Amino acid sequence: MNITVTISRFNPDTDEEPRMESWTVEMEEGARVLHVLDKIHTLDPTLAYRSSCHAGQCGSCAVRVNGEPALACTKEASDGMVIEPLNLPVIKDLMVDLVPGINAIPRFHSSECGTLPTLEDVSKIKPLRDCIECLSCVSVCPAMRVTDFLGPTSMRSQMRIALDPREPGNRIREAITQGLFTCTSCNRCWRVCPKNIETPGKAIEKLREIANREGLTLPRHQEVAELVRTTGRSVESGKHTFLDLVDEVIEPYGEVKREVGFFCGCMFNARLPERAMDMLEVMRHAGIRVIIPKTQVCCGSPLIRTGQTSFIDELKDKNIRAFQERGITTVMTMCAGCGATLKNDYDTPFEVKDVSEILSETGLPPLTKVPITATYHDPCHLKNGQQITREPREILVTAVDKFVEMPAYCCGSGGGVRSGMPDEAAALGELRRAEINKTGADVVVTICPFCEYHIQEHSDRPVKNLMTVLVEALGKKPTEL
Ligand code: FES
Repeated sequence: MNITVTISRFNPDTDEEPRMESWTVEMEEGARVLHVLDKIHTLDPTLAYRSSCHAGQCGSCAVRVNGEPALACTKEASDGMVIEPLNLPVIKDLMVDLVPGINAIPRFHSSECGTLPTLEDVSKIKPLRDCIECLSCVSVCPAMRVTDFLGPTSMRSQMRIALDPREPGNRIREAITQGLFTCTSCNRCWRVCPKNIETPGKAIEKLREIANREGLTLPRHQEVAELVRTTGRSVESGKHTFLDLVDEVIEPYGEVKREVGFFCGCMFNARLPERAMDMLEVMRHAGIRVIIPKTQVCCGSPLIRTGQTSFIDELKDKNIRAFQERGITTVMTMCAGCGATLKNDYDTPFEVKDVSEILSETGLPPLTKVPITATYHDPCHLKNGQQITREPREILVTAVDKFVEMPAYCCGSGGGVRSGMPDEAAALGELRRAEINKTGADVVVTICPFCEYHIQEHSDRPVKNLMTVLVEALGKKPTEL
């Protein structure tokens, strides 16, 4: 088969900036990206790229294929693909400078005085030991763009060391100075890792738990934990809370096509109840009965992300009981952070789905397109935490005149960064502003309340919840409280 491929070329001796070059080569079925590069190299030996093991083991061949980091030796080649270097300083063509990133990774120094790891220690360490140092994670980390954060794989290494009893002493203060609290929990590093290492959940949040046990949690994060402990909620209540305003069961206008329980989350309950009211209006039109247990509490995400997990099991029990005792089999979330937490950090006896999944499955009510050009901000906890990107876009395209894409970047509001590291959150918000402005859209649409709140502070255009846009497309006025 013929494969046409576009490759980024850059020679620092002759080029001011990279240029794109197209090749068409004949390849066998099932060829990998690296096979294509090897073939082109026989035609143009000046093409620079790295490879060694050809088996996904050494990490040297990582590049971007159609914008996403991948190992060239394991990624299947496709016609029309675009191959670029990782987003790191480029030496030549597809070769990037890996040395600073690899040298930054903290190393384990075994001590003769330490005890040997138990089998249990070994099994805990194993998932963190699989790193092949390709630096794909480093190339996508938002915190590293605006702070001196040493990076995801450095934190992975610090946690691997922390779990090994042979390591003398405790390096938690070192991890904090290396930027432990700058991670936004965007989970992008996990999603691009060729070894599927869940660095935020398995390393960064665990290191933050150690920091918490040592009294090193950031003061602002401690205040949030105290609020959850005393009120069951992570944000102060405003004039109205969603749970006070609504009945426990909301019936649709017509035939009942489906029934879901609604987990509202602290932000929609106390800060943005209007958005949740808009969602209920959409559900009424879509034929979905919504049950809203009033005994639900904070999902615990702000605590898990910041390593404050001492009473997390109580929150989980209360929430699971709230839905289980009403016989609810599908719980719908609207906050991306709550959805990711219920899906990834809970073991629920019911299925959990984002509102966009529910609407895609059940079908949208008849809509009239709103005369706006809209772009969509992917909440990290939806895109990376729940791997949902298609459904919100399909819904938005149905509801507005024109849709324009925007690259998916973390806005900086997650992982306790907005409250604990406001300068970093603002710097990432400004990067988002620049991308929004490039789209020329009238409106930025998202689902996550944290993203909505944060981006609104860093956007020259209005930011709307997808449910509010749907209410407008139903010909109704969005809720005002
Ligand atoms: Fe070693 Fe691809 S060549 S991982």
